[in-house]
Amino acid sequence: MKKILLLCVILLISSCKEKSVFIEYSFKNNMYYIDTNLDKYKDYALLNDLDEDTIIREVNVGLYRDYYIDSEESDINKDYLVLVNKYNFLKSDYEPIDLEEISDKFNKGNNNRLRKEARVNFESMCEDASKDGINIYSSSAYRTYNSQVVIYDYNLRVKGKENADRVSARPGYSEHQSGLCVDVNVISKDFANTLEYDWLVNNSYKYGFILRYPKDKERLTGYSFEPWHYRFVGKDVAYKIKKLDITFDEYYAFYLS
Ligand code: DAL
Ligand code: ZN
Repeated sequence: MKKILLLCVILLISSCKEKSVFIEYSFKNNMYYIDTNLDKYKDYALLNDLDEDTIIREVNVGLYRDYYIDSEESDINKDYLVLVNKYNFLKSDYEPIDLEEISDKFNKGNNNRLRKEARVNFESMCEDASKDGINIYSSSAYRTYNSQVVIYDYNLRVKGKENADRVSARPGYSEHQSGLCVDVNVISKDFANTLEYDWLVNNSYKYGFILRYPKDKERLTGYSFEPWHYRFVGKDVAYKIKKLDITFDEYYAFYLS
């Protein structure tokens, strides 16, 4: 009996060892594998029943950490590629120095400013879209920390904390404070069923804009699908993100961190 028990223990240990070797080997074959994250992949795999690709993507963007609690100040030296999400925040007094007003022709909102490069490219995009019979305009672009306080508090009251956090960034954690993103046209999920949305999906990257919170990527971005929210990252990066079909959070973790 003792011998059988011992044999079982040995078999169990060797199967665990084999498994860990197997996991390590497969992780390293993934295109987004980051060597310094190897231990985190293993720990995350033990706690979450997910396929290896998902484990790598989620660990890379930091999902093993707690939103807001385990966060750090955004690296504003990354300039147009600054990352602002639930782990990376802007100080309450951060305000970009090169904010410019979007032309009235392409604006219908009160928060009508963007950083220079983003503003120039946004207007070119709207201008070219109009030549295709597509009407694109800004509904909300740069927002101060204090205006985000008002928006988040409103969502909190109306939706409750869990739902508010899925659609609205807490003050300091909103990309709108970076002056690099813009909510276009109608802020509604129905916007995804419009010709304007289709046009943006096919063309926004040519002007350096990406759809920042795509459908079915909520775990990676921290927010539910926002067909109206476009982020300026510059033409090269926007093209790469579209081609790779990844979120900006993933791109940043793998190529910019
Ligand atoms: N709706 C986006 C996540 C924001 O509030 O910045
Ligand atoms: Zn937005």
